[in-house]
Amino acid sequence: MLVLGSAFLVVYQRHIPSNSEIGTQQLSPRWQDRGTKSKDYDENESNNLVMTMASGPGVGTPAKNYSQGVSASHTGKSSDPGKSVDLKSVFISVKTTSSFHKSRLPVILKTWFQLAKQQTWFFTDADDEHFQKETNNHMINTNCSSSHGRKALCCKMSVEFDVFLESNEKWFCHFDDDNYVNVPRLATLLANYSPQEDWYLGKPSIRAPLVILNREDKNFSKNRQNVTFWFATGGAGFCLSRALALKMKPIAGSGKFISIGERIRLPDDVTMGYIIEHMLGKSLTMVDEFHSHLEPMKFLGQDTFQDQITFSYSQYGKDDWNVVKIDGFAPRIDRTRFLSLHCYLFPYFTFCPR
Ligand SMILES: *[C@@H]1O[C@H](CO)[C@@H](O)[C@H](O)[C@H]1NC(C)=O
Ligand SMILES: *[C@@H]1O[C@H](CO)[C@@H](O)[C@H](O)[C@H]1NC(C)=O
Ligand SMILES: *[C@@H]1O[C@H](CO)[C@@H](O)[C@H](O)[C@H]1NC(C)=O
Ligand SMILES: *[C@@H]1O[C@H](CO)[C@@H](O)[C@H](O)[C@H]1NC(C)=O
Ligand SMILES: *[C@@H]1O[C@H](CO)[C@@H](O)[C@H](O)[C@H]1NC(C)=O
Repeated sequence: MLVLGSAFLVVYQRHIPSNSEIGTQQLSPRWQDRGTKSKDYDENESNNLVMTMASGPGVGTPAKNYSQGVSASHTGKSSDPGKSVDLKSVFISVKTTSSFHKSRLPVILKTWFQLAKQQTWFFTDADDEHFQKETNNHMINTNCSSSHGRKALCCKMSVEFDVFLESNEKWFCHFDDDNYVNVPRLATLLANYSPQEDWYLGKPSIRAPLVILNREDKNFSKNRQNVTFWFATGGAGFCLSRALALKMKPIAGSGKFISIGERIRLPDDVTMGYIIEHMLGKSLTMVDEFHSHLEPMKFLGQDTFQDQITFSYSQYGKDDWNVVKIDGFAPRIDRTRFLSLHCYLFPYFTFCPR
């Protein structure tokens, strides 16, 4: 059973990461001007897409021509069927909230969602007929509060986790609504690991593991002890294998994730790390190619874009954006740079300049 009760934060090297609490409130309303032109969508872009690796495994293997790989799988001419990840075995959840649907979902739906339509589900906090339709009924109303509080965020993560458990997918990958997911690169990452083994893949946003102090015990002075663990920043995205998720199920399934979050009073992604590293004794495998908006996006070199798994963005001030540095569409129509990034990675999309 759970040893800890209420614990509190002792050390936090930088600041509380993840959870869209940082940089989300100020998100520009400008995206709303753009709306979604569903005609632009490449309806046939993604169904039954099977990713094939061009060469051997290894996290961070050198750049491959993913546009070629994707095109090849479209035409069924994948040359190396032995080393492939069926993207259909991945459950992709995107955490969002009703007030961000209009500003954040259109660019996702127009870009990377098209490469993983069957696998991607949006977890939100209100019914939205428009986006329900745009996502082919892939919006899930968690019935969680739409606040940005810890409880609401743990509530959503809990629903994401439970819906994954009910699915038959081999991998659970969580992202935020300000992430761009390089779908083929995600598939090649997962091809390096077995879903029948315990894997927690992600990237911390602090330099040392988190230390929290157990304060629950009645024998406070005698028994209190530090608990040390790593956690993957939710805002950068992370993946869990089904084997690990099944081990978590008795303690964190069926909504129990929320009570653990309540007990340690820490955000959803920290709670995830606590469950996996502290309660189950499994380790986070650090994957450097996940990126949250806590990182300065401009330092990602364009020549490495196809190796990166996620990208993000945030707005600091009126004209001060933390975005990927890339030429392409004018900032006026591509403030997040995700359209330009997408065209760089997948130039065959119809909205991309020829
Ligand atoms: C998309 O797929 C449908 C059904 O397979 C086909 O009729 C249609 O021509 C395709 N559209 C494009 C743009 O390839
Ligand atoms: C990737 O493949 C496409 C299509 O074959 C080609 O046009 C492009 O130049 C290639 N890019 C790189 C970096 O090799
Ligand atoms: C949210 O509430 C509705 C209406 O009660 C229900 O149909 C739906 O299943 C609930 N969603 C979840 C994820 O529990
Ligand atoms: C307090 O600590 C003592 C010695 O470690 C132990 O015997 C006792 O059961 C503890 N009491 C509680 C309430 O945990
Ligand atoms: C817990 O960690 C804090 C901060 O690193 C340290 O000051 C304290 O001595 C530790 N307490 C125990 C019981 O190890």
